[in-house]
Amino acid sequence: MDEAIKRIKKDFNSQLEIASSSSEIDQIKVRFLGKKGPIQDLMRSLKDVSREERPKVGKMINDLKEELSHSCQHTFDALLHKEEKIKLESQKMDVTLPGRKRFLGRPHPITQIVTDILAIFKEMGFSIQYGPNIESDFYNFESLNFPEDHPARDMQDTFYFSKEMLLRTHTSNIQVRLMEKEDLPIRVACPGKAFRNENISARSHVFFHQIEGVYIDKGVSFGDLLATLKAFFSKIFKREIKMRFRASYFPFVEPGLEADIECLVCSAKGCKICKETGWLEVAGAGMIHPNVLKAGKIDPEEYSGFAWCFGIERLQMLLHNIKDIRLFTENDQRFLSQF
Ligand code: PHE
Repeated sequence: MDEAIKRIKKDFNSQLEIASSSSEIDQIKVRFLGKKGPIQDLMRSLKDVSREERPKVGKMINDLKEELSHSCQHTFDALLHKEEKIKLESQKMDVTLPGRKRFLGRPHPITQIVTDILAIFKEMGFSIQYGPNIESDFYNFESLNFPEDHPARDMQDTFYFSKEMLLRTHTSNIQVRLMEKEDLPIRVACPGKAFRNENISARSHVFFHQIEGVYIDKGVSFGDLLATLKAFFSKIFKREIKMRFRASYFPFVEPGLEADIECLVCSAKGCKICKETGWLEVAGAGMIHPNVLKAGKIDPEEYSGFAWCFGIERLQMLLHNIKDIRLFTENDQRFLSQF
């Protein structure tokens, strides 16, 4: 019996020694102390032991049983503790680390100013519409009273897809489209891109944004046009703005004009930006030419109207003293994040 007990102990200890996880200890426990284990075998063999010896041998077996289960429990606890520590260790986090900064997106400066401009147009009773970027020669030029040989039609200025189709060179392409589909009176603003085949520089780009305003009704006068322009620019600059109007030529208006505002950079004293004149050109405008009204199936004897348009980049450049138009298309966060 002594021999058997020694062997079991030795066996047990060598297994316990190499166990590396608490679940392995569970298995060892079942193996040695379970119903099919060697200790139960010993218990069963007790019946073959003589009566006198039986209590002594019984106690030896019980002691062994207790010793093994105690060892198991002890090792199990130690391993479990170690395992939990490792697990906790792996979940550890440094609460003193600084947080990760999240960057909030925002509308592009062009989108921002278009939103402001449209709000003013809406307040003045204009609705908003969008014309196509890819346009026919008819809506971009012919219906707008451009003579066949007008230099703006030249390959130098216009991106042509074919003789008939092109990228619109101005948002004025919406004028006759509006006349064809809208009921009178018409009072619409149209923001969008315009494209011109020019050299890219700090002052000009091959594509830029414009907003066109079109107003047609009975009895619309030249005075209405001037008053609308003045009201608009005072609203966008949030103060009374001095304006100056110069006669100018666009085939689709008569009379045509260019509108200047007082130079905001030098308070009209004269600087580099206004070329020492104290004035900045901001818009082209005029009374819609009778030929254009006719192209839009509107009787020029009965109706009159005005149209005007300005470059959005240019306005944003004036508002924020930006010196290079290319900044708007370069996606440089150092520039964009300032708006
Ligand atoms: N379409 C003209 C341009 O892009 C501007 C303009 C619009 C002039 C409406 C008169 C009336 O230069």
